Amino acid sequence: MEARAIVPVSKNGAIRDGGGRATLRLPAAPKAASKSLLRHMIKKIFAGLLVAFVAIQFVRPARNLSPAAGPNDVTAKLEVPADVQHVLATACYDCHSNNTRYPWYAQVQPVGWWLASHIHDGKRHLNFSEFGAYDAKNAARKLRGVARTINGGSMPLSSYTWIHRDAILSAAEKKLVADWAEAARAKLAPPPGGK
Ligand code: HEC
Repeated sequence: MEARAIVPVSKNGAIRDGGGRATLRLPAAPKAASKSLLRHMIKKIFAGLLVAFVAIQFVRPARNLSPAAGPNDVTAKLEVPADVQHVLATACYDCHSNNTRYPWYAQVQPVGWWLASHIHDGKRHLNFSEFGAYDAKNAARKLRGVARTINGGSMPLSSYTWIHRDAILSAAEKKLVADWAEAARAKLAPPPGGK
């Protein structure tokens, strides 16, 4: 029969005497020490990121939610056929009106911040809910911009159509809205020299 010494070793590697007091501490191998240090640091970094992620959830941007069309709505100022209105509402209103249909992930920061900045920028350039507040010259310029950006494909933003597939405009839809914008612009401000 083989005699085996039974040495009580505590979790931290200290050999304990019968009374449970640590009597000898075995030096940890240096490699194992640096490994556990690294693991410790990674854990700390992840814990830090998690805390930061939770903390930023409390910083919520103001919501762009005014569903009722006000007196300055584009439909009060211009004649907007239903099919044109449908395209604008589907593809443009989330960023160019006072009412955004928020996806669930807008609740998650920093995505919500990113969307809010697009909406803020978009409304600054063109707001269909406040269209009536533009003077004729400005309104004509905005309508020209609508036709230009739709024809050029820069609007709706590609980061938007990437998720909102229904906002990808067909050639017919592009033509419909661009023609409407051009016609509405011509009515507002006949171009000088008939050009
Ligand atoms: C995801 C948000 C978003 C959507 C959707 C969107 N836009 Fe924009 N739009 C912007 C932002 C942001 C700007 C500010 C300028 C820029 O960053 O390009 C802008 C600017 C514009 C401008 C002014 C730019 C210029 O060059 O004069 C026009 C016109 C415009 N958008 C038209 C549209 C139309 C029409 C649609 C729908 C077919 C649309 N946008 C959909 C975000 C959006």
